[in-house]
Amino acid sequence: MTQTITRTGGAPGGDTNPLRAGVTSSRITDPCNVVFFGASGDLVKRMLMPAMYNLRLEDILPANFGIVGFSRCEWHTEEFRTEMRKSIDEFSRSGPAKDPLWSDFAKRLSFIPGSFDDKEAFAQLRAQLEANDADLGTAANRLFYLSTPPSLFGQIIDMLEEAGLGPNTNKTGWTRIIIEKPFESARALQAEVSKVFDEKAVYRIDHYLGKEPVQDIMALRFANVIFEPLWNRRYIESVQITAAETVGVEERGGYYDNAGALRDMIQNHVMNLLALVAMEPPVSPTADNIRDEKFKVLSALRPMDRSRIMQDTARGQYDAGSIAGKPVPGYRDEPNVNPKSNTETYAAVKLFIDNWRWADVPFFLRSGKRLQRKNSEIAIRFKGIPHRLFGEAGDSIDNNVLVMKIQPEEGVSLRFSAKVPGPKMHIRAVSMDFNYGTGFGVVSAPAYERLIGDAMRGDATLFTRWDAVQQAWEQVMPILETWQNTPDETFPNYSAGSQGPASSDRMFAVEGGEWRKI
Ligand code: BG6
Repeated sequence: MTQTITRTGGAPGGDTNPLRAGVTSSRITDPCNVVFFGASGDLVKRMLMPAMYNLRLEDILPANFGIVGFSRCEWHTEEFRTEMRKSIDEFSRSGPAKDPLWSDFAKRLSFIPGSFDDKEAFAQLRAQLEANDADLGTAANRLFYLSTPPSLFGQIIDMLEEAGLGPNTNKTGWTRIIIEKPFESARALQAEVSKVFDEKAVYRIDHYLGKEPVQDIMALRFANVIFEPLWNRRYIESVQITAAETVGVEERGGYYDNAGALRDMIQNHVMNLLALVAMEPPVSPTADNIRDEKFKVLSALRPMDRSRIMQDTARGQYDAGSIAGKPVPGYRDEPNVNPKSNTETYAAVKLFIDNWRWADVPFFLRSGKRLQRKNSEIAIRFKGIPHRLFGEAGDSIDNNVLVMKIQPEEGVSLRFSAKVPGPKMHIRAVSMDFNYGTGFGVVSAPAYERLIGDAMRGDATLFTRWDAVQQAWEQVMPILETWQNTPDETFPNYSAGSQGPASSDRMFAVEGGEWRKI
């Protein structure tokens, strides 16, 4: 059963930020086992295990839980515990693991070495889960987290079913599965997943949805009266969604060279942001009502006409350059990248939503690696004023812009015009800023922490439903196919540390405007 604990957060005037007084701060998950497939990988090390530890530290994970690592690596349980302690020490947001919490946490970790087609290893996994149910009180609830390449999903799912670990054989508790984004054939993958797992048991993770400022998009829109009346084609001129990174492909060249920015970032993270910005108010905040609205808006996207791809999209690949004063190599010189690669490390797309609210409002989406600054944001640019009354010669009256800052800054900023003090009516653009950290006096928990906790509670609101995934794929497929079939002879076409390829400016040729500075 899911419980809710309310911590009072301290009385106003006490030592707690009054903005948080009385808020519910922890929702305990069900007792359960979490199985990480690909447990020796980077994601488990950097994100997932530190997230589990912090969930326990925050009392969100109940005392009766078990964590089983499964991977091809030849560890045994003791080594797994040692490795996981190292990863918590290095990456946990709460600092190194501490006793007595760590020793209790470590007792609940076990490891099964095996390849993903090894029947014997899956039989051992089952035995371990049953032992945990008896010894740790995990109540036959099972969350399988597939932190492996998507090409292995089908095999793992078949082996789970064969080992009697599928949802239909578990009559006592629940069985859920978390999968990361698919890159190759999303439809084929879906067919494999849905053979065994009902849609309600599938949690498709998009870690952007676990970021606090992303969750706040709905609060900003639907918990305030002042924005929504303006949130439409009558008042909004354009929307820009940016997910810019300074990192390159790091050690992931092998994967990235087959994915590219469009699949890696736009199809999932950026499209999810677009859906949250453009959807209609849901009738209630339940997972399915919210996901229904997200699906509707994605299905209203104007299909990308192949003849428009040249003017409505832009792609880039980074060359050598410098980031924060340090020289960095070009993409084609990164490890495991084809030296003649045609893969884009920057992608930009202009989209339209064909419905009453958004007809003809352009949505400009972009994402790239090795750009000047890390910066993810959504900028809503309102139309200009209908008639100018004020301003001296040389004053420009800028359009209002509402910016939802996702990272690294987390907050909301509204740009508006104000009079410069003095005898003349000079007008300048100023901004009103809200920052989550200083406003609420808390550091946001990492997205994976929130998402794993939600999956353990059975709350799918922040996970993507298959129909939305499919819709987003349909939108990007014509672009992908065109890009794959016509190599870009200008690659590499932007320097590391820059604003991206100059060619992306042509997307503004029809509507005017320009990209915001990253
Ligand atoms: C991942 C991509 O999904 O998101 C990476 O595969 C990218 O290539 C990462 O770097 C960005 O996430 P964040 O949270 O750092 O913006």
